Amino acid sequence: MSSGNLDFEQFRTFLEKSCGILLGSNKQYLVSSRLNKLMEQHGIKTLGELVQRVQGQPRGGLREQVVDAMTTNETLWFRDTYPFEVLKSRVLPEMIKASPGQRLRIWSAACSSGQEPYSLSMAIDEFERSNLGQLRAGIQIVATDLSGSMLNACKAGEYDSLAMGRGLSQERLQRYFDPKGPGRWAVKAPIKSRVEFRALNLLDSYASLGKFDIVFCRNVLIYFSAEVKKDILTRIHATLKPGGYLFLGASEALNGLPELYQMVQCSPGIIYKVK
Ligand SMILES: C[S@@+](CC[C@H](N)C(=O)[O-])C[C@H]1O[C@@H](n2cnc3c(N)ncnc32)[C@H](O)[C@@H]1O
Repeated sequence: MSSGNLDFEQFRTFLEKSCGILLGSNKQYLVSSRLNKLMEQHGIKTLGELVQRVQGQPRGGLREQVVDAMTTNETLWFRDTYPFEVLKSRVLPEMIKASPGQRLRIWSAACSSGQEPYSLSMAIDEFERSNLGQLRAGIQIVATDLSGSMLNACKAGEYDSLAMGRGLSQERLQRYFDPKGPGRWAVKAPIKSRVEFRALNLLDSYASLGKFDIVFCRNVLIYFSAEVKKDILTRIHATLKPGGYLFLGASEALNGLPELYQMVQCSPGIIYKVK
């Protein structure tokens, strides 16, 4: 094996151990395009040298920057539409009927730049407007991600016209955002205040998060091995209350774990109910 290939193999192992992301063996170009700038800034010449520097380092610093640069943060408002519609038309009414007056908790488990948890908060507002008084105890959304730069963007809650143009209707834009100068908008306070952002690596313990009624874990498990995916889905199950629901990405399926989740066919879309 050439030293370049060996460096790449070591980097792949480092990345999978740090955050679960499994790189294909043909993804060398991706690594260089994402890390070149960072390596230049730190005067690092080869991938091998980078691995030496970050391996064994505590989380934070250069190690965190490397992992951050390797995450894919693609997201949009109301992604795939149906999860937010199913939430309003089926899941919330069912939960309110089962436990009237109870405060509900939702976890957005890989929230990227915030579009998913803020879309959830807008969907909840829409539900409240058409079902007055039914959510008396309110809903809390906990949104987590591994990436520090994404969490900073989430907390700022400000978006440019490119981001705003992806999945947001004019009506929602007018209702839920304040203009913030040319081509910039900020999420309005009542939508923002429902969401609490926290740093969390999905490979770590979820014990500090508490229990949830609903978990959105969408478009992140695709980057992990089958083994890591199974472990995460098993531990997410432990965070869900009886009768709770799991939402995956539209192109993701829950293979295995029939003892933990029951598939619920909606039209369109599939969601998973805790057994
Ligand atoms: C493609 S985005 C998905 C965003 C959103 N859930 C959606 O469906 O639009 C994937 C996110 O997963 C995060 N991520 C990757 N590995 C992670 C890990 N081990 N723990 C927590 N978040 C992770 C990335 O930082 C990124 O923001």
